[in-house]
Amino acid sequence: MAHGPLRPMTSRKSAPLKGVAHVPGDKSISHRSLILGALSVGETRITGLLEGADVLDTAKAMRAFGATVGRLGDGEWVVQGVGVGGFAEPEDVIDCGNAGTGVRLIMGAMATTDIVATFTGDASLRSRPMGRITDPLALFGAESVGRSGGRLPLTLVGAADPVPVRYHTPMPSAQVKSAVLLAGLNVRGDTVVIEQEATRDHTERMLAGFGAEISTEVTEEGRVITLKGQPELTGQVIAVPRDPSSAAFPVVAALLVEGSEVLVPNIGQNPTRNGLFTTLIEMGADIVFENERIEGGEPVADLRVRHSALKGVEVPPERAASMIDEYPILAALAATAEGPTIMRGVKELRVKESDRIDAMARGLEANGVTVEEGEDFLIVHGADKVPGGGLCKTHLDHRIAMSFMCLGMAAEKPVKIDDAGAIETSFPDFLPLMERLGASFRKENA
Ligand code: S3P
Repeated sequence: MAHGPLRPMTSRKSAPLKGVAHVPGDKSISHRSLILGALSVGETRITGLLEGADVLDTAKAMRAFGATVGRLGDGEWVVQGVGVGGFAEPEDVIDCGNAGTGVRLIMGAMATTDIVATFTGDASLRSRPMGRITDPLALFGAESVGRSGGRLPLTLVGAADPVPVRYHTPMPSAQVKSAVLLAGLNVRGDTVVIEQEATRDHTERMLAGFGAEISTEVTEEGRVITLKGQPELTGQVIAVPRDPSSAAFPVVAALLVEGSEVLVPNIGQNPTRNGLFTTLIEMGADIVFENERIEGGEPVADLRVRHSALKGVEVPPERAASMIDEYPILAALAATAEGPTIMRGVKELRVKESDRIDAMARGLEANGVTVEEGEDFLIVHGADKVPGGGLCKTHLDHRIAMSFMCLGMAAEKPVKIDDAGAIETSFPDFLPLMERLGASFRKENA
């Protein structure tokens, strides 16, 4: 995403939120739909695709690698794939904008094809570690040259004669797991990824759906995921469920603002993603999961949320992977809960779109909230009233921006963010959607 001028905004104390919040399609599943569609033979039809900047950058990248990608209507896309091993060498640099998932999965998908590609992104993405991807890809035979610390821009030389890999992921990361599995597609033999903690399993579910032979075994070593190389993937029809990570914002806003009742329909409830909802229930949230069902292989429910007085909790570290993107909004909510909310085992938050422990701690402090932080923990001390009145730096991070817009809805004085631009990456409709529910936002001068 080319980032334009800063777009400061304020969020002030809101009237009760009422209505229905249709959040956009799941970002993780949207990226994977395009990438797996591009690696398949024949046509993949997608509905409900997230049309945020991150995913649009992945669509552009898939075209650069030779797939035909077209938009038929709102969220409705079609991909004509090139088949496993069929990627062509891009003519120009691949710009993945703000998208860590996009660039990391695409690097995996091309690493075992005999082509060369150079990747870059915005200032946030260029600051994020890529060694976690290029290290396992080197085991397949791929070579890379990046900036110091393996940062973007980075050139990846795909392995001409790749060998299968058995890899223990050194950190809980679905992006690392997925990059290795996608690389394993174009390799003869079994590629094995072993993870200690379950991370989101969309890649495994979708690879199976596209026709790959893939299995997961829970052993003493961890979760052992085995993919048989060189399958023929065939185009699929995919209905992308709505994103639980985006749903988190209207859900938490409804909990925060007195008198609110909001319905958030069709939200993915994949157990590798739903840690926030478990935590909210433990805090005393009034959330009813209506119409629980399976859609497109993923569990889905409609969430009815009513304002609730909440208690701080200690979030167990083993839950971190299943709510990793939701800590910023949980930290905002925790500011209004009774007592401390303790979040440990969250050092991965330091290498997201921003250092999310630091960004939340500084923004909360600026608004009169007491916090404690360390390398891998954040503690937010809740209080009856959040004073507000502070300026929050968002560091090109959509989730930081949306979290502070939600905090402002319940604070005594308006909460200001320095830039709402990054919200485009995952939730382009966030501001009008929340305003329709009753939120009171205002654009400020840069
Ligand atoms: C994602 C995995 C997570 C998450 C990101 C999306 C994915 O990152 O934070 O927003 O779609 O695989 P990590 O794998 O780095 O934890």
